[in-house]
Amino acid sequence: MSSDNIILSVRGLQKVYQSGRNRVHVLKGIDFDVTEGQIVALIGPSGVGKSTLLNIVGTLDRPTQGNLRIADTDVLEFDEPGLARFRNETIGFVFQFHHLLPEFTAIENVMMPGLIAGRSKAQLWQRAHGLLKEVGLEHRIEHRPGELSGGEMQRVAVARALMNNPRIVFADEPSGNLDISASKALHDLLWNLSRKHNRTFIIVTHNNELAREADKVLDIFDGRIKNEHMNQVI
Ligand SMILES: Nc1ncnc2c1ncn2[C@@H]1O[C@H](COP(=O)(O)OP(=O)(O)OP(=O)(O)O)[C@@H](O)[C@H]1O
Ligand SMILES: [Mg+2]
Repeated sequence: MSSDNIILSVRGLQKVYQSGRNRVHVLKGIDFDVTEGQIVALIGPSGVGKSTLLNIVGTLDRPTQGNLRIADTDVLEFDEPGLARFRNETIGFVFQFHHLLPEFTAIENVMMPGLIAGRSKAQLWQRAHGLLKEVGLEHRIEHRPGELSGGEMQRVAVARALMNNPRIVFADEPSGNLDISASKALHDLLWNLSRKHNRTFIIVTHNNELAREADKVLDIFDGRIKNEHMNQVI
């Protein structure tokens, strides 16, 4: 870890999608840094490239050009198996639709990233149980996703994202599918988890009010960061 605690560094990032004869230059040069423990909100109009950027910095997709360092590692140097291992150990994801496995219980879903990492089941159960308690779902651990509310499913997804104790969590409109009160509750949970554990979160949100509570806001427009500002620490 470098002394200035920069956990994510993006330089000159570009992304061009080529589909058929259509060439879409979505990201035209993105630069930013994220410090450990920061909550960063990514905002901007629909179609501007927020998910594209999140997927690239989250290592799920590759840029057409540019540099990306996460936890002092040049992640673009990895081959696919190396990247998959790094991602599993270092990064957590929460998506708009929870992507929980329907045939598994809440606690089994939370354990899944740890099982993939090859850790012992008994240990994983303890940690998953602790995480589900932390997200307020201790009483729902044996429920399958179909037996949970939308807000509860997203909380399970948050617990799963934290399972391998990631350095950084990426969330793409995690409350986009929830009503106002469930959305507020989910954001409060993410904020509390970040503050309590000094964990870094990068969150795409359409909700400008919630974005104002982030430490840093990146406003994307026409392939670039139109506006980057730090919010006051409350
Ligand atoms: N796989 C792809 N192939 C071609 N074009 C794509 C692909 N994925 C996204 N795009 C295009 O890139 C642009 C940015 O898409 P992206 O999903 O990143 O936007 P967004 O800011 O997340 O939008 P929203 O707020 O609606 O989720 C859009 O114009 C989209 O049509
Ligand atoms: Mg999107």
